[in-house]
Amino acid sequence: MAFRAKADVWMAGSWLSLRGPRALGTRAALAPKAVLPFEAIPQSRSNNWMRTLQIWKEQGYENLHLEMHQNFQELGPIFRYDIGGTRTVSVMLPEDVERLQQVETLHPRRMLLEPWLAYRQHRGHKCGVFLLNGPEWRFNRLRLNPDVLSPKAVQKYIPRVDMVARDFSQALKEKVLQNARGSLTLDIQPSIFYYTIEASNSALFGERLGLLGSNPSPASLKFIHALEAMFKSTVQLMFVPRSLSRWTSTKTWEEHFEAWDYIFQYANNCIQKIYQELALNRPEHYSGIMAELLLHGDLSPDAIKANAIELTAGSVDTTSFPLLMTLFELARNPDVQQALRQESLAAQAAITDNPQRALVELPLLRAALKETLRLYPVGLILERLLPSDMVLQNYHIPAGVLKNFVVETLNQEDVRMVYRFILRPTTLPLLTFRAIN
Ligand code: HEM
Repeated sequence: MAFRAKADVWMAGSWLSLRGPRALGTRAALAPKAVLPFEAIPQSRSNNWMRTLQIWKEQGYENLHLEMHQNFQELGPIFRYDIGGTRTVSVMLPEDVERLQQVETLHPRRMLLEPWLAYRQHRGHKCGVFLLNGPEWRFNRLRLNPDVLSPKAVQKYIPRVDMVARDFSQALKEKVLQNARGSLTLDIQPSIFYYTIEASNSALFGERLGLLGSNPSPASLKFIHALEAMFKSTVQLMFVPRSLSRWTSTKTWEEHFEAWDYIFQYANNCIQKIYQELALNRPEHYSGIMAELLLHGDLSPDAIKANAIELTAGSVDTTSFPLLMTLFELARNPDVQQALRQESLAAQAAITDNPQRALVELPLLRAALKETLRLYPVGLILERLLPSDMVLQNYHIPAGVLKNFVVETLNQEDVRMVYRFILRPTTLPLLTFRAIN
């Protein structure tokens, strides 16, 4: 069957809680042992093509997370949902996610993100791990792991990230102390973006950009805008078949390409500088992830470039918004903030001597970050195309399917979140940073 090849499973972020008798009732009703057919899975009522039209009309799909939440509330822990031309099954319970992981092969398959692929195909660029499936994905991933993800690699770049974090904290402190009241009230989002770009650039390319000073470069500002435009247009295009959107969304395609052009140009500049410096001189000390990849030579320069671009683009928003939301939650939960401060003061000496200790000395901070990601999952969905038929919830699923400040806020209201490929806040209340000794 045609749809079998496309049956796709989405795993929703864990912020979706199943509450109420409807959800429990749905599970209880599944007690009989006979496996029910795929078609018996409850289906979302909203019409596939009406939804596509709505995405087109509203220039995005900002309430995807709320719609998913409502579906889980009304239909139970598993439901079918058709989007564009694709049939998907959504699950949210840890036991179902575990079962899916158990059947995962060496080559997990994901839906390919059409707008991102189209850009690379048109411009003749290679794809990195985020856009690959099958043996080519595995080939790239195994060669990236030692320099990007292995504990040994993390140990090497943590001091660079630590240094940027200290500079960020120091720059904020200086601004706070310039003010007569010893406090600074601001929208911290732009500063956090500079901080994450600076940290990412330092870990990936071994270079400091100077973004934490008073005059961030226009190139970095443009990079941030390009990332925003790229994510926004991604959602406008990803749910509509390319054969249709090329006629109905010409302007959005132009914006998407323009945004990627700038992101590629930005990352290209960073990579070119490394190429040149490595060609002139082999560094004596560790000088960032890209230099290691180029020196080891296990991947071709084009493959390294493709992956560098994904790592550059993937590292800014994913880290900025969770940090922002952590600060917001700490501002409205002063007791937790106080406990974190105590923890970091106690660990101060150990971490100053050895930044890697941060991973073990600060369990409460780790928990706070995890809780933020649970409440505001920046990556909303994890998806897999099933390698083989399986049974989930008794249904047959066919194969193919900060230590120097207190942070305060007057605002106790929840923040509205919107889906723009990543989940992000629409606006944020002002945060006040107050110096303490
Ligand atoms: C809290 C922060 C982050 C979240 C929630 C997040 C979320 C995700 C998710 C859900 C995936 C898909 C995984 C899968 O399909 O199995 C993914 C993949 C990926 N992310 Fe992130 N990410 C984060 C931070 C980052 C950062 C900082 C970088 C770059 C330095 C990055 C680069 C990537 C890349 C390259 C992939 C593709 C990996 C592969 O397919 O092998 N992410 N991320």
